[in-house]
Amino acid sequence: MSILTLPKNSKMLTKDFTYGVATASFQIEGGRDSRLPCIWDTFCATPGKIEDNSNGDVACDHFNLWQQDIDLIDSLNVDAYRLSISWPRVMTVDGKLNQEGVNFYLNILNALKAKNIKAFVTLYHWDLPQHLEDQGGWLNRQTAYEFANYAKLICQQFGDLVHSYATLNEPFCSAYLGYEAGIHAPGKVGKEYGKKAAHHLLLAHGLAMNELQTYSPNSLNGIVLNFTPAYSVDDSAENVKAAQYADDYFNHWYIKPVIDGSYPDIVEQMPTSQQPDIQPGDMEIISQNLDFLGINFYTRAIYKACKDEIFEELPALAPRTDIGWEIYPSAFTKLLTDLNKQYQLPPVYITENGAAVNDHVVDGAVDDEMRYNYYQSHLNAVDSAIESGVDIHGYFAWSLMDNFEWAEGYKKRFGIVYVDYQSQARTIKASGLAYKQLVSNR
Ligand code: FCB
Repeated sequence: MSILTLPKNSKMLTKDFTYGVATASFQIEGGRDSRLPCIWDTFCATPGKIEDNSNGDVACDHFNLWQQDIDLIDSLNVDAYRLSISWPRVMTVDGKLNQEGVNFYLNILNALKAKNIKAFVTLYHWDLPQHLEDQGGWLNRQTAYEFANYAKLICQQFGDLVHSYATLNEPFCSAYLGYEAGIHAPGKVGKEYGKKAAHHLLLAHGLAMNELQTYSPNSLNGIVLNFTPAYSVDDSAENVKAAQYADDYFNHWYIKPVIDGSYPDIVEQMPTSQQPDIQPGDMEIISQNLDFLGINFYTRAIYKACKDEIFEELPALAPRTDIGWEIYPSAFTKLLTDLNKQYQLPPVYITENGAAVNDHVVDGAVDDEMRYNYYQSHLNAVDSAIESGVDIHGYFAWSLMDNFEWAEGYKKRFGIVYVDYQSQARTIKASGLAYKQLVSNR
């Protein structure tokens, strides 16, 4: 059996370093009838949006199988579990708590506590209640205040069962993929939407941070951002400039306001119709002190200059995972060290990292060598960043188990545990066993 290894004196081999597995509500829960509709239900019901025409009605049936799933997490010996709360499950249309939905998560949190597994809770992993989208969703400033209300009410319920709260998961995806490129829910298309949605998401983050720091002062409160570092196709000045623009547009757009309280300078080059609606005081709210920053990394992107659109993304180079993303671990180390130079970072957790592989169960086992290699090279990349002085406290594998991979449906498998969607049987893959070994051997 393959095992994952790290250099002998690696800080990642101490017990202070947190290892976990991650999931998100819409991707695993199912239990569709017992919650309000969300934008992903609507998106899935729209023909042509999801690769295999699937939806989240059942998913991994975690709504019913949560106890066995927590046993599974426990069997991996990890220190922590990163899950997200389904806003439409715990809140009513008039902004009150839905106690039945709250109890579902209280049961999970209590079970985790009993097993000494730290709960890393994300409050928003993309499942916006549909009734809020009907009022404009993230294009409506009011949604940010609705989110803060939800954050306040829910953290009061959970008390000290939660080790860490992240307000948002990957606001880039919500804003850009959801309201500009239209490939995620709610599927709006237009440059005039993307940055407006982003601003309201970031405002929601800041307002919710305030509530968390007031009503849950003992948890680690922060945000999870994704980064796809932008590389220029060559050294020519125009292509380098285009890649820098893309980097500001996709990556720094989210971290800079949160840490420095301002958007990248490219905001001034953008037509007014595309700029965010910033009200006095917004940037102060957005740049609250963070207890931690969650960083998600999967791949890099390569750009060249393009007359009409400023930059153009080129096809991903090989080697690629099953979802077509280039495997390029050195970009991970560079990202972490660059961010550490450019920003005053709080403690960092790698909140997602992993690979899609076209896995199969053969004789009761899943030999996912490509994923194993991906984890090995990316754990080494994190270790190198720590060696260079980046203050990284933990690492979460995406994902605990195969699940609904958004616009890709169930075709792309990211789990370290295989899910048979017919029988709902779970099988720990070779990468999962290797991860367990690494965690156990510390
Ligand atoms: C991230 C998402 C996560 C999962 C992985 C593959 O962008 O946060 O839900 O889909 O990608």
